[in-house]
Amino acid sequence: MTEQEFIPASYFKTIEKGVVTWESPSNIALVKYWGKKPNQIPENPSISFTLNHCKTITELTYEKRDSDGSFSFEVLLDGFQKDSFKPKIEVFFERVESYLPFLKDYHFQIETKNTFPHSSGIASSASGMSALALCLMSLEKQLLGDAIDDAYFNEKASFLARLGSGSACRSIEGDLVVWGETPSIEGSSDLFGIRYPYEVHAVFKEYQDTILLIDKGEKQVSSTVGHNLMHGHPYALNRFSQAHDHMKSLKTILKTGDLDGFISLVESEALTLHAMMMTSMPYFILMKPKTLEVINKIWEFRKNTGLPISFTLDAGANVHVLYPKSESVEILKFIENELVAYCQNEQYICDQIGFGANRIK
Ligand code: DP6
Repeated sequence: MTEQEFIPASYFKTIEKGVVTWESPSNIALVKYWGKKPNQIPENPSISFTLNHCKTITELTYEKRDSDGSFSFEVLLDGFQKDSFKPKIEVFFERVESYLPFLKDYHFQIETKNTFPHSSGIASSASGMSALALCLMSLEKQLLGDAIDDAYFNEKASFLARLGSGSACRSIEGDLVVWGETPSIEGSSDLFGIRYPYEVHAVFKEYQDTILLIDKGEKQVSSTVGHNLMHGHPYALNRFSQAHDHMKSLKTILKTGDLDGFISLVESEALTLHAMMMTSMPYFILMKPKTLEVINKIWEFRKNTGLPISFTLDAGANVHVLYPKSESVEILKFIENELVAYCQNEQYICDQIGFGANRIK
């Protein structure tokens, strides 16, 4: 697939107005995307678990208008006008316009809400951008007289979501999604996410992710700024090549159900991500003291019990605690008794691997 193949030749139908709603999940990367080339092309491959409960629900209302050469849209979050979201959506519309040439012919109302607390520090860009991309694809599908199949629909939705936020391209489908071309994964692409195409051991089919909300404050450094600091970073090339190696090793781990291998690869990825931040120029730290305390508690508990509990981090202070469903009872007891005290307002979210976005109406 090339970018050109996502440019529609022409539309057959005229659609005056309508409404479409999609819910789309967040995802948590096991091998992390950190560093990008122009046009949202990743410097290295990544793979994520699609989540199940942390979702954005977006209703797109559209009405045809006489185009004045600009984009016309309004955004609402939880029913209230949210003008602070507009610049990011304007940039998204600019990036995708050549692939969705109808954009300036409509006025859009984008009404969005999240199933997770708004100020939880959980990035809503993956779920939010993927939900919006899917709504726009539903409109395009109508304009094309329904003449596109599900595979193309999902591929283009992922392609568009990527142009909104890189990690969003991994939120269209589940349960494991790969983004970024890498020799060990056939069909992998820099342009969109693909479902992980190989055998996965049963233990990874129902993996749990309990998200500990350590710090809900605004991040001092956005992901976009952080990605850019990988340009000229002294360790960048080694890091990018390590990500390819990790993708290859993970293939065997996922197939054989090698939990020890999984734990060390995933924790190393999380700490490497933060090490890249700490060794950028300017350098920065997104972990908080409580992030480190939780990590040490997890290591101690694992050592004492032998249970396959592990953690990963996103670009923030929150800790994602990962474990197989079969160990839920004991591990949740540990989380409640020992880890929740480190969470802001004792807040945490129990999530698990999910299967991607759904059209609601
Ligand atoms: C650390 O996808 O938020 O979560 O493309 O600039 O929107 P932009 O960045 P974003 O970066 C996510 C980085 C990460 C790792 C990952 O999800 O792979």
